[in-house]
Amino acid sequence: MVEKKTVFNLRDDFPTLKRKVNGKPLIYFDNGATSQKPSSVIERINSFYQKENSNIHRGVHTLSQEATSMYEEARNKIKSYINAESEEEIIFTKGTTEGINLVASGFSRKILKKGDEVLISAMEHHSNIVPWQLACEFSGAKLKVCSINEEGELDMSEFESLLSEKTKLVAVTHVSNTLGTINPVKKIVELSHKLSIPVLFDGAQSVPHMKVDMKDLDCEFYVFGGHKMFGPTGIGVLYGKKKWLEKLPPYQGGGDMIKTVTFEKTTYNDLPYKFEAGTPNISAGIGLGTAVDYLSKLDWNAVHDHEKELLKYATSEISQIEGIKIIGTAAEKVGVLSFIHKDAHHYDIGTILDQLGVAIRTGHHCTEPLMKRYEISGTARVSFAFYNTKDEVDVFISALKRALKMIL
Ligand code: ALA
Repeated sequence: MVEKKTVFNLRDDFPTLKRKVNGKPLIYFDNGATSQKPSSVIERINSFYQKENSNIHRGVHTLSQEATSMYEEARNKIKSYINAESEEEIIFTKGTTEGINLVASGFSRKILKKGDEVLISAMEHHSNIVPWQLACEFSGAKLKVCSINEEGELDMSEFESLLSEKTKLVAVTHVSNTLGTINPVKKIVELSHKLSIPVLFDGAQSVPHMKVDMKDLDCEFYVFGGHKMFGPTGIGVLYGKKKWLEKLPPYQGGGDMIKTVTFEKTTYNDLPYKFEAGTPNISAGIGLGTAVDYLSKLDWNAVHDHEKELLKYATSEISQIEGIKIIGTAAEKVGVLSFIHKDAHHYDIGTILDQLGVAIRTGHHCTEPLMKRYEISGTARVSFAFYNTKDEVDVFISALKRALKMIL
């Protein structure tokens, strides 16, 4: 169980959590931006460069073969972790943003035509808006946006009414980085598939909080990054159903993504390599495999209960502070708590909290259209991971009260 004692045991795995900031013990509540890394991941990357550093898929020599097999083993671990059908469906990318751009670029060149539509939602991160704007601009397709209610939940009847034979893709976030809303992903797939519309989910903010199962979810594409799921930066995963990945043209040209090259014609490599041009972030890929090993050992029901309890407690405590308004009150949420104060700017709140050792994110969280929907310029955002504790929430609440006293 991830109860208090076990949380403290888990905390020992994360060296950064032991440091002080501005003379105070660090309280790290910015997990939505990036999570801290367990020692096993840090040591794995270190040991790669100390002992194994070599390029992959290129050498007959021992080091290269070892690196290749470790990198491919990481791909295999990810495949099993998300329950994909095969390694061919696991494309390594730089991160969530690159994964979405890869699909958007392929759709714009191969699938989208003038008059077609791509459906996204009002709560998307810029990385699930701008690539589709580019794709629409290139192809003449139209971007449609499904609205949300005041609580920050998708308007599912509007969603259904926006689906038509013109819709060539639904691209929606699984979990909102700003509101914490967990979207009804199975319902989205069900409604979209009724009209044979493929679905892409932005999983950047879901994978740190829950296990995802590709066979169960049945979406066509699922995209996430390593660094929010306790792995390294600079590595991410695009899951795609083989049939769909085969339909899309290569994203970038270069080494490794080809079978043969002549000046007249190039033939492309098989999946997943068709989408992996150039030397990848090898150490990060291997490190992500180690992060997945770590996550595989967690009791996810206990993680879920613990994070739910943290959110409930923090929500109830913060609600008692005069002038605070929570942005994002969906019935289904992960441990994300965005708030504003009627008289204090979120930036000032974040700056003073940092002086008190508490790290939160402030601003528009790369969701400017969502901020416009709520008619605000930004929020202060607390985002939990399983290693956070109720004691930390207590320190945060008293630091917030102190910050407000200084500002007002
Ligand atoms: N998208 C990340 C966040 O929400 C960086 O903070």
